[in-house]
Amino acid sequence: MMVIYEAKDYKDLSRKAANIVSAQVIMKPNCVLGLATGSSPEGMYAQLVDWYNKGDVDFSRVKSVNLDEYRGLSRENEQSYYYFMHKHLFDKVNIDANNTYLPNGLAEDPDEECRRYDALIESLNGVDLQLLGMGHNGHIGFNEPGDCFDKGTHCVDLQPSTIEANKRFFASEDDVPRQAYTMGIGTIMKAKKILVIVSGADKAEILKKALYGPITPQVPASVLQMHSDVIVIADEAALSAIK
Ligand code: GLP
Repeated sequence: MMVIYEAKDYKDLSRKAANIVSAQVIMKPNCVLGLATGSSPEGMYAQLVDWYNKGDVDFSRVKSVNLDEYRGLSRENEQSYYYFMHKHLFDKVNIDANNTYLPNGLAEDPDEECRRYDALIESLNGVDLQLLGMGHNGHIGFNEPGDCFDKGTHCVDLQPSTIEANKRFFASEDDVPRQAYTMGIGTIMKAKKILVIVSGADKAEILKKALYGPITPQVPASVLQMHSDVIVIADEAALSAIK
């Protein structure tokens, strides 16, 4: 089942999304959160930090696995997702850093790293709540449009449009890594609950395709139509093509 919540604006969206995450943590204090990066969830993390500071949410027993990481970036690199997560959440709340996991961008053997990551997720008994943003081409994590849905964690070549979209964070386009590790569609679909957040008019067309178009690996997010428990939180601008 898919439930769609309309948020007034980005602030409202961030607050609604943070509500779902904190509800999950309150219901199951030792839950496994599947976390995402990108600009979409930044406001949600800020809201969670705020509530943590007020004593309203406790991350001490929470575990987390992130969706993806650039291949070739070290943890210290400000564009790595490791860095992003520490900056926006891990360093600001009482989550135990030893219980937070991301793919290792500097792993020597990519195949081995993918197997390690899948085994790790399995050892945590899977993800309770998986957070997702959505790329302009419908990618989730770094699962780019393609001919088939990938099952487990894999190393992908980023599409030119993704490199283009993400270059705003880097000094130049040449600095954007060409590859990334990402959980597979199979890994994502195994999460017990999924929370998708989508903001802005530039996502309106792809959001419509993902939610109401044919289920196809050409629009990776369309697979979410088949999941039994999905919450989509989108702002008015992102929902503008649907009404
Ligand atoms: C990035 C990330 C995704 C993210 C997407 C959208 O490439 N790998 O996890 O959802 O792009 O990013 P944004 O929220 O900044 O639009």
